[in-house]
Amino acid sequence: MKSIGSYPSTRLRRNRKKEWSRRLVQESTLSPNDLIWPIFICEGTNVKERINTMPGVYRHSIDKLEKLVESAMDKNIPMIALFPNIPNSKKNSKGSEALNKNNLVCKALRLIRKNYKNIGIMCDVALDPYTSHGHDGILKNNYVDNDETIKILIKQSLLQAEMGCDVIAPSDMMDGRVGEIRKALDKNNYELVQILSYAVKYASNFYGPFRDAVGSKKTLKGDKKNYQMDFRNSKEALREVALDIKEGADFVMVKPGMPYLDIIKLIRDNFKIPVFAYQVSGEYSLIKNGIKNQILNEEAIIESLTSFKRAGASAVVTYFAEEIAQKLR
Ligand code: PBG
Repeated sequence: MKSIGSYPSTRLRRNRKKEWSRRLVQESTLSPNDLIWPIFICEGTNVKERINTMPGVYRHSIDKLEKLVESAMDKNIPMIALFPNIPNSKKNSKGSEALNKNNLVCKALRLIRKNYKNIGIMCDVALDPYTSHGHDGILKNNYVDNDETIKILIKQSLLQAEMGCDVIAPSDMMDGRVGEIRKALDKNNYELVQILSYAVKYASNFYGPFRDAVGSKKTLKGDKKNYQMDFRNSKEALREVALDIKEGADFVMVKPGMPYLDIIKLIRDNFKIPVFAYQVSGEYSLIKNGIKNQILNEEAIIESLTSFKRAGASAVVTYFAEEIAQKLR
């Protein structure tokens, strides 16, 4: 950087003195256009179920969904993400409920799609909500089998596309799945269905509340370190993204969010593809509890979300989406 002058002729506080001036020089902004709202769905009717580890977040039965979608559209949120909590009785080692045309996600997709065309719907592609062992793929000798898992993920993707999903989001971290899913979608006339790859997904300790929300916390055997990324690494993130772009991803996700702003920036600086950030459940609950206990004030939410924009994210998946979109209006 060239010389920026020096005190006393240069006083950086001058531009900060008045609110109008601060507005003129702001480098990053946050708007509802930047938000993706994850919604947990469950069985039953008229259910709005508290999630103990995520204050203010609920599991909703499908009959409640239209109201939520309307609220999202009303607040200009471009896309929602659906996450199912299925009962243990429907889980097995192969996660076969994922391929049931009448599973929760499929029912929700059909219902929303029938009445709402102008909001994006994204669905995870991974088996963890459906497997009895809680892993994202199927196990062979206690190891998540890459290629056998991809075969199922392709079917899951095609099913979701058929039901009206706009954005297929593989969150499983199998090698090569983006390319295989892209090929299958194209072959079946879904060439305009987008793929949001969870390209850079770390084996993180911040996912706990989410696993509670989808009901895989108690069932998960071991950890996900032999497929999700090691949090000590960043060069590997560049390789993951490069591969997924080659395989046909339309956007890439970095996950979790705040502990990984360096990774968002790294990818933004090295590629032209849109980067999304996922402010995950553990981050949400920390901030939410901070506010509840009057350790933080509510502005901390805006600050955390704006940091993703500053780092270079195009959009943020966040459980705060509805509440913040309302505030930003
Ligand atoms: C499942 C999935 C996870 C999250 C999104 N999709 C958890 C995991 O990989 O164990 C985490 C989201 C969050 O913590 O908010 N593949």
